[in-house]
Amino acid sequence: MSTFDTEILYADPEEFDGAVAAAVEQLRAGEVVALPTETVYGLGANALDESAVAKVFEVKERPSFDPLIVHVGRNEQVREICDLSPELGDVVDQLIAAFWPGALTLVLPKKDNISDLVTSGQPTVAVRMSGHPVMRAICCELGQPIAAPSANRFGRISPTSANAVEKELGGRIPLIIDGGACNAGVESTIIRVELGEKRPELHLLRAGPVVKEDLQKIGKVIRPKKVRKLEEAPGQLESHYAPATPLYFFDKPEDFVPDPNLSYGLLSYRGSEKEGYINLHDWDVVEELSPGKGKLPEAAVRLFYAMRQLDESGVDVIVAEPVAEAGVGVAINDRLRRAGAKTRMA
Ligand code: TXA
Ligand code: MG
Repeated sequence: MSTFDTEILYADPEEFDGAVAAAVEQLRAGEVVALPTETVYGLGANALDESAVAKVFEVKERPSFDPLIVHVGRNEQVREICDLSPELGDVVDQLIAAFWPGALTLVLPKKDNISDLVTSGQPTVAVRMSGHPVMRAICCELGQPIAAPSANRFGRISPTSANAVEKELGGRIPLIIDGGACNAGVESTIIRVELGEKRPELHLLRAGPVVKEDLQKIGKVIRPKKVRKLEEAPGQLESHYAPATPLYFFDKPEDFVPDPNLSYGLLSYRGSEKEGYINLHDWDVVEELSPGKGKLPEAAVRLFYAMRQLDESGVDVIVAEPVAEAGVGVAINDRLRRAGAKTRMA
């Protein structure tokens, strides 16, 4: 892997055009660049440049069986990379009209111009249009789709700020575009779109900011109970989003039995004295996701930041309490469960 003196460019209003131009220049040269989106920061490469896509896997240390999401800047680009029948095209157009630009990724039959490297050899490609103005400007200016997984090393916490990207990938990439803190905070919702018998079938592969209740307006939402085969949801690995510190996700407070020799940090939902896990233990550190109010969108925005803070605090163990299993809370609990998967298995 090449090493770089990683440059960070702020895409604030005065510097916007310059930052966009610098990113596009690197992408045209076949380099990978960290880019802001409304969910998490992405590690972008020209999706039609196979050697650039290969660099994404190398920089992330990502196994090749985990496919990438392709980002577009214009609606018409979907049909340039996806093979849509008129019927499926109608459903896709409805989804696009309702949710794009935004945090919804569609898994659709691919065209030949999208290589097996991007899709891990599958006949489908995952595509989305980000709502972040900087990401969209870069997609439009480049004029080609951008393959971009989250800009973290494989299996680790997704970055929601340029600073977090620098910690994950500094020295490995030439450029990070700083577009501010991500305002959704968890990765996009992923659905595989199928025609179905009566209504379109939307198979929920990853919970995210676009929730089931929203999707039901367009089609029948099908939640696979258990992922049976890797091919059905590649990348939806049991262990993911993990801090270096062991993390335990306890569904019930009784499950927490502290060891007096260890220090503990709590990832608390509300942080309030009256509820939650705050009174269970004399915690060494507490990070609150939604102080006081328990607002789920706020908790989503703070989730990966708070996980990083606890990871860096020096505690021996992180304990995470569940948030309300509603709306984007479904996605938050999903990420916490995966973050804790390795510790549960050990
Ligand atoms: O919000 C997001 O989606 C962020 C930003 C950067 O756009 N990206 C992101 O990418 O979360 P990543 O690589 O961390 O997750 C992509 C996941 C894969 O792990 C896999 O589960 C799913 O997307 N995926 C990609 N292509 C697929 C396909 N053809 N079929 C099924 N799942 C696919
Ligand atoms: Mg990821």
